[in-house]
Amino acid sequence: MSKQKNFLKDLELKIKKKKPIVVLAPMADVTDQVFREIIVKYSRPHGPDIFWTEFVSADGLNSLGKKNLLKDLVFNKKKEYPILAQIFSSKKENILKAIKLVHKLGFNGIDLNMGCPDRSIEKQLSGSAMMKYPELSREIVKASRKLVDEINKKNDQKEYFSFSVKTRLGYNKIEYEKWFPNILDSEPDIFSVHLRIRKELSLVEAHWEIAKEVVNFIKKYCKENKLKTPLIFLNGDVKNIKEAKEKIKLSNCDGIMIGRGVFGTPWLFNEKEYLKRLDQNIETKKGRENILFRLKVLQEHTKLFEKKLTKIKSFNIMKKHYKAYVNGFDGAKDLRNDLMVAKDYKEVKNIADAFIKNKLK
Ligand SMILES: Cc1cc2nc3c(=O)[nH]c(=O)nc-3n(C[C@H](O)[C@H](O)[C@H](O)COP(=O)(O)O)c2cc1C
Repeated sequence: MSKQKNFLKDLELKIKKKKPIVVLAPMADVTDQVFREIIVKYSRPHGPDIFWTEFVSADGLNSLGKKNLLKDLVFNKKKEYPILAQIFSSKKENILKAIKLVHKLGFNGIDLNMGCPDRSIEKQLSGSAMMKYPELSREIVKASRKLVDEINKKNDQKEYFSFSVKTRLGYNKIEYEKWFPNILDSEPDIFSVHLRIRKELSLVEAHWEIAKEVVNFIKKYCKENKLKTPLIFLNGDVKNIKEAKEKIKLSNCDGIMIGRGVFGTPWLFNEKEYLKRLDQNIETKKGRENILFRLKVLQEHTKLFEKKLTKIKSFNIMKKHYKAYVNGFDGAKDLRNDLMVAKDYKEVKNIADAFIKNKLK
């Protein structure tokens, strides 16, 4: 029997026990090493079941800019287990080299982005644009799978290295029956589907109305073609664990991927904590305690960002988080506006401390 450590087996066991799998979506300039560290602190051991990095350009990793991009691939192997590195490119050779690199760095798997609608990514024929080039996509997925298999076959391989793809339902129209086989034929370990098409960006509601059909199609296609069925994760608009459980039931998928739901609530994967922290009524003691908790996490997050990332990333990235942390309570709007013009941790701390002193004590 193989002694290989394999996070997929742990997940399969969890699914058998009917426990919900909830994973953290990759989000550029959001799920960086610092936010993930905060999520670990406030959500683990409850979740997420898998971490994803922000996406990283495989072309960039094979260019002179590599050194800078490697900073986006910093992670804590012990605390962020399992973690998948997501890459994008349309150049097979660069993808294959990036896979080898990601494996060397100690990630638990590689995830190919075939769904990002950002124009700058599409211009490189990557992300969603891959859907317009099914033959090329098929070739890339096949070659990636082959390389990952070779990596796993090596005798000294103690830990399974997974191969997965994240994509959408189609480009200009829903056509997953035509698009998905290009990926499924190579037997990815995990297949994550954002339930929208490229044209919709994130402007319309995710298509949960067809979620069950989508899952059935994937399972039926794999069975009929004698392919290994991947773990199927569905994604789009799921706000919390309660909703995730409902969506798993509704669709019969294996797990739910949550993205924006974690903005401002890094404790989201700890359902008890999440529910406890919902009350933000400034008139009540409990509400004030919860607002205080948010502001303390916001300060901690900012401090860590300044320590680890300001030399690499713009401090403005934190503003996205402030919008979410400071929301839904009396006085939030003014506080948010003040935080939006803060330039560093010291200013953020002073602004938040003043609010705490004046409104929460
Ligand atoms: C700010 C932001 C950055 C994102 N970056 C990525 C990315 O790097 N890779 C990716 O596959 N998807 C990316 N996405 C898409 C999310 O992973 C997810 O598919 C989408 O937000 C829908 O899920 P949600 O409704 O739970 O947020 C990003 C989304 C947002 C909002």
